[in-house]
Amino acid sequence: MEPVKVGLLGLGTVGGGVVNVLQRNASEISRRAGREIRVTHAVARTLDKDRICGVNDIELSTDAHALVNHPDIDIIAELIGGTELSKELVLTAIENGKHIVTANKALIAIHGNEIFEAAQNKGVMVAFEAAVAGGIPIIKTLREGLTGNRIEWLAGIINGTGNFILTEMRDKGRDFADVLKEAQALGYAEADPAFDIDGTDAAHKLTILASIAFGIPLQYEKVYKEGIDKITREDVFYAEQFGYRIKHLGIAKDTEVGIELRVHPTLIPERRLIANVDGVMNAVLVKGDAVGPTLQYGAGAGADPTASAVVADIVDVVRVLTTDPENRVPHLAFQADSLSETPIAAMGDIKTAYYLRMDAVERPGVLAEVTGIFAEGGISIEAIRQQEPAEGAGFVPIVFLTYIVREQAMNEAISLIEALDSINGTVTRIRVEHLG
Ligand code: NDP
Ligand code: HSE
Repeated sequence: MEPVKVGLLGLGTVGGGVVNVLQRNASEISRRAGREIRVTHAVARTLDKDRICGVNDIELSTDAHALVNHPDIDIIAELIGGTELSKELVLTAIENGKHIVTANKALIAIHGNEIFEAAQNKGVMVAFEAAVAGGIPIIKTLREGLTGNRIEWLAGIINGTGNFILTEMRDKGRDFADVLKEAQALGYAEADPAFDIDGTDAAHKLTILASIAFGIPLQYEKVYKEGIDKITREDVFYAEQFGYRIKHLGIAKDTEVGIELRVHPTLIPERRLIANVDGVMNAVLVKGDAVGPTLQYGAGAGADPTASAVVADIVDVVRVLTTDPENRVPHLAFQADSLSETPIAAMGDIKTAYYLRMDAVERPGVLAEVTGIFAEGGISIEAIRQQEPAEGAGFVPIVFLTYIVREQAMNEAISLIEALDSINGTVTRIRVEHLG
């Protein structure tokens, strides 16, 4: 049988990893796929000598448009990134009847609905395992392995760079900027690393996970997001005093007021496995009504782990090349005409517990003022701890853990507390999830 011909858009961290894995494991992969898989063409912006030497049996160019119009290529692997050029190239390739494999979560989260519709019309596949949690096969797990379940909620550490930064800062006391530089050198970070830090990358990934879990269209613009940039060493330390770790989580929950979609720093009890996922590793906890909780763990970024997911997608495409489009696993797990219109919950309506830190004037009655506001708002306190003030600070840090309450009630209470004369500055709020 003729080899299946793959064209790579991009030869960076992921594209280079795909070439290496396909070469290194060529015989295993073709025994699994039933056909030889050959990368025949690749494009990059620059074609230096090292690059040309490393891939001598691949035709290289800088012309991405020529690649997606090339008549001999069966599968296009989009590994360029970004959302404009990549969208144009993917739609052109689909129009030309080519199957797509992509690692680009921004592209799928923002333009996925349109791309899947185009692919459906053309009867081609768009596979995107590498777009979420690097090497962890979470898309396949949700879409196929858990297909008998009603998914109740999922929560994941889904940005490797962010988790790497938080771990290095906590364990080694390293500086934020210094660890970020290392993450970039290791190929973990996005082209714009602000996406890793401000929660954008995790929000792209959560959008995709939620669609597949709950059978809803991709709705990136409705995800609530906070990044890791506001997490302080003090909060990490105080959280540990209460038996919690701070992780940046993507959370999607099916609730009576709609689907919660949120990414933010979160306190998790340190006894939970996911609280101990460190460095570039990712983990996704999925709660299905039949299976109960499941946890998938693995490298969330980097050349080989991501290539593992891209190559698995290429093999999947090869295996179904001859099947009728209507007999394939749907792109978003549910049949395209059966997606639900379940609303996304407003952030004020979510219910969760909270960690609150505030700087109080040291005088009698301050605690009573704050707890009075909590009582008025129907907020129950689980624990309070007064911390050592910093030398010469004049204020005492007080930390509260609350029981579960509606976010709107907490917003109102925080506004009232911040208006007190006895409280200095703003209240730090970190949501708490027990993930039980
Ligand atoms: P890189 O920046 O390392 O690689 C991008 C590649 O695309 C480079 O080879 C670049 O060329 C090429 N490229 C960019 N623009 C053009 C263009 N206009 N024409 C031709 N070639 C172009 O990115 P990554 O490999 O890290 O990421 C690729 C995708 O994979 C992104 O969507 C990213 O979000 C996703 N991803 C990345 C992971 C990781 O760990 N890095 C993990 C999971 C997903 P040149 O080399 O000449 O600059
Ligand atoms: N920048 C991303 C991360 C790459 O660090 O998780 C993997 O999607």
